[in-house]
Amino acid sequence: MALVIPSIEALTPYEGGKPIEELARELGISDAVKLASNENPLGPSPRALEAARRVLGEANRYPDGAAYTLRAKLAEKHRVSMAEILLGCGSNEILDLAVRTFCTPAQHIVFGEPAFVVYRIVALASGVPFTAVPLTKLVHDLPAMAEAVRPETRVLFVANPNNPTGTHVGRAAVEKLLREVPPEVIIVMDEAYLEYAEAPDYPDSLALRGLRERLIVCRTFSKIYGLAALRVGYAIAPQFIIDYMNRVRAPFNVSTLAQVAATAAIDDLDHVRSSRELNQRERKRLSETLSARGLSVAPSQANFVLLDLGKPARPVYEALLRKGVIVRPFANLPSSLRVTVGTERENDRFLGALSEVMP
Ligand SMILES: Cc1ncc(COP(=O)(O)O)c(C=O)c1O
Repeated sequence: MALVIPSIEALTPYEGGKPIEELARELGISDAVKLASNENPLGPSPRALEAARRVLGEANRYPDGAAYTLRAKLAEKHRVSMAEILLGCGSNEILDLAVRTFCTPAQHIVFGEPAFVVYRIVALASGVPFTAVPLTKLVHDLPAMAEAVRPETRVLFVANPNNPTGTHVGRAAVEKLLREVPPEVIIVMDEAYLEYAEAPDYPDSLALRGLRERLIVCRTFSKIYGLAALRVGYAIAPQFIIDYMNRVRAPFNVSTLAQVAATAAIDDLDHVRSSRELNQRERKRLSETLSARGLSVAPSQANFVLLDLGKPARPVYEALLRKGVIVRPFANLPSSLRVTVGTERENDRFLGALSEVMP
């Protein structure tokens, strides 16, 4: 008998951005810049760091499994009840829980292609069939996704803004999706990059909860809050959905450090504001500079840009690595690279290295 189910046999593990230390080990480059994982280049909020330092001495104790203080803070921020909030070890865990809690292999999942690769991984890991609906001109095609829904469909994922394209879907299209997809389906609006979006028609789907009962809104502290290493994200959904996911969640999934740092980070409005301003300024500069060089840049509402080089991107990725600049290639987008918006200095380093490897 096979050791694993066929979909796990076929699963390619998630490959994240290359760590700086790995490049140092492999190529002996000591001053690399990493623009590969959509992290906050300004670092964590100083207030979050201070809060985390204060609790290090309690590392012998298990965390508060119910994460009372952080959930209370989030409930206040979003004007929802604490019972409507679930914390995850990164929002990644929330995506996984949505599938493990609600789907069996007899059911079906819908997501976009290319979109966040974890949707595919969690479906394969649980052996749940899925339809990956192609994006249209690098934007989620919500009508086509709605059409892909079958009687067995249980979960539909939308990343807005999307990763790796950075593109967004507007309010009217999201409202139509929330209204028209059969009510049995749980729609997961994955808004990891929401804080970076500035398009006037970008919808905060928390404001659309009235349109649909089975809606999970997913957020993270890994991006604008700069806490990716601490692994904390959350879902906001009706209490009955949260209750079921809580049954499946590991008891101490969010560490004490993560809980206190995230709680403090919510109040650091200056850090969020300066992170957003840097991103808007540098995203615009990167996009304009790359477009002026004749490269095609997808319109981004996130903290990264996807550029199409018009030729195989892998050799360019490798040449950039040798210059100490780490970006992100994608097997399913063979002529594109995704570049996280860094500080001005980091972006200059990338732009300089790119003109050397692609004169
Ligand atoms: C669209 C999207 N959703 C979710 C995540 C998961 O982030 P985390 O698990 O760090 O919260 C990412 C990470 O890159 C992402 O791009």
